[in-house]
Amino acid sequence: MKRTIKDLVNLKGKVVLLRVDFNVPIDEGGKILDTTRIDNELPTIEYLIKQKAKVVILSHLGRPDGFDVRKSLWPISIVLSRKIDCNVSFCNLVIGDEVKERIKLLQEGDILLLENVRFYKEEEECDMKFAREIASMGDIFVDDAFGVAHRKHATNFGLARILPNAIGFLMEKELTALNQILESPKRPFVAVLGGAKVETKTKILEKFIEKADAILIGGAMAYTFLKAKGIPVGQSIVYDESVPVARAILELAQNSGKKLLLPIDHICMHAKSKSIVTTSKMYGDLIGFDIGPETVKLYDEEISKAGEIFWNGPLGMYENKNYRNGTQSIAEHIAHSKAYKCVGGGDTVATINLFNLTKKFDYISTGGGATMKYLEEGSLPAIDVIQEKIK
Ligand code: 3PG
Repeated sequence: MKRTIKDLVNLKGKVVLLRVDFNVPIDEGGKILDTTRIDNELPTIEYLIKQKAKVVILSHLGRPDGFDVRKSLWPISIVLSRKIDCNVSFCNLVIGDEVKERIKLLQEGDILLLENVRFYKEEEECDMKFAREIASMGDIFVDDAFGVAHRKHATNFGLARILPNAIGFLMEKELTALNQILESPKRPFVAVLGGAKVETKTKILEKFIEKADAILIGGAMAYTFLKAKGIPVGQSIVYDESVPVARAILELAQNSGKKLLLPIDHICMHAKSKSIVTTSKMYGDLIGFDIGPETVKLYDEEISKAGEIFWNGPLGMYENKNYRNGTQSIAEHIAHSKAYKCVGGGDTVATINLFNLTKKFDYISTGGGATMKYLEEGSLPAIDVIQEKIK
């Protein structure tokens, strides 16, 4: 068990360097389009303030190439100051004398948000000189940035190697939820996986063959699996180089006695006439873009029996209304099932938001890549370096 902020004693007057993931969607005018990641961070921030710490917040936003005003964290400081009842200020730098001066001016229970750490190339290089310079401004490091914990960067991995440290409440919540999936899922445990490339899902598929009772496959990767089984897929997208991998996964599922279900019918577009066709046989000019109604029924049988469901990846090209029904029907069936329901991955969270089903899910992981990597490996580099709880 990792040390959490509750294990830190005597925070009064201490400078806590808090790494968060404020990588929120933001438009060109600096308007924040979704504040979920800020809202999820409030319990940790409020706790630190109550303990009378001086809180210095570090985060990345997007993937900027050097200083870029469109990726500044300044708009986030405005939102934060409206959501939290304390003194919130912003500094447009991460290191240097000015930052040190601003930290010196902090009173107990104040917050200082620093600029986007990715404006400095040293962040992603995990430059330890950069990390040491930041560390020298604080007493304790708290990592609550689960969404970026799969990356070894200076302000997560680097700071944890230098300062006494702990995880925040959000990180703790994520780890508890994901460990429950890995260690003691309610049975039957059903994994619903969509997405395009089998290659990127190999490890997670292997993990779910080990852990789950049934795996339901959708999205473009389904066509690579169907091809691996020798089933015609018309002109649907198939990654030929992934066919042997798909074949190996099918074999592994069969040898392990696990159900790995593939679509039995499809919503297709006719390549020449552009008409939309629902069929169980994809020949010639048909391109599959969604699972069909018979597949929805088949998958629903598993969903309705499930004790726990983990879902990652849309099951079709849901951005286009013509190919949305599969993803929407499965999302609704999951949402209304009696199972414990978890969802992870950026696209999938966007999907349930679109269908207004967010409140029906028991756990929504804030990570994309980090969530999948944690489920694959059972650990993440930036979490591994955090101190263990003293028993
Ligand atoms: C995310 O949005 O998944 C995290 O903030 C990580 O962002 P990154 O993929 O740019 O490292």
